[in-house]
Amino acid sequence: GKERCKIVAVDGPAGSGKSSVCAMACQQLGWTYVNTGFLYRSIALICRRQNGSFQDSELLRSIVRDFTENLSWDPKAGKVFYLGEDLSDALYTDQAGKDASLIAKNPAVREELLPLQRKLSLQSPIGAIVDGRDIGTVVFPDADFKVFMTASIEERAKRRLIQLQGGPDKETDRSKLEEIKSSIEARDKQDAARGTSPLKQADDAYFFDTSDISVERAVAKLVELIKSNVTS
Ligand code: DC
Repeated sequence: GKERCKIVAVDGPAGSGKSSVCAMACQQLGWTYVNTGFLYRSIALICRRQNGSFQDSELLRSIVRDFTENLSWDPKAGKVFYLGEDLSDALYTDQAGKDASLIAKNPAVREELLPLQRKLSLQSPIGAIVDGRDIGTVVFPDADFKVFMTASIEERAKRRLIQLQGGPDKETDRSKLEEIKSSIEARDKQDAARGTSPLKQADDAYFFDTSDISVERAVAKLVELIKSNVTS
């Protein structure tokens, strides 16, 4: 049969810089970036709009199936359309992140989203960087290369604050920073403590701490790692 495209799995906690680093690395490599957090965020958003319960497994299963059928996806622009509506902006709120972490605990949601994550990734012409929490452990245990990307909680909170403020030049709002820190910590705990596919480093993953390096350096390092570890 036809050989599958290359798959690089990148897992790690919230705010570790995965999405910007992976997106830029894909641009340099000419690969496709698959952000699986998007999918969990979308399911949570649709459920909330229907006033559904995050514990209602049957409802969630039907939402995932309907979403799978009516999804169109533009990986280059990083946009997700559902029934023709662009969900992208609504997915990037703090609320959507918290909601996604809540529904991600439900094994029915994880199971239903597995084939979609594999399909979107394997459609890539050359290779895909797939980012999430359980990509190297569950979605693609046979990935060509695995990275576990993280940064200190202090650094992750700072990056998130800068993102929310829309730039690095503002004076640091200490109380806002503490608020973000506890929100990130709560989400990490929830993602690492769940019974099904918790956030954890795969045994064969490369541990990559980005606390002390710039986004540009992190991108260059990831591209270098992929070039030297993924043979075509
Ligand atoms: O990567 P993100 O912050 O957009 O993900 C939002 C939530 O979705 C995250 O807190 C946990 C969940 N998630 C998951 O459980 N498994 C994945 N592969 C991706 C995301």
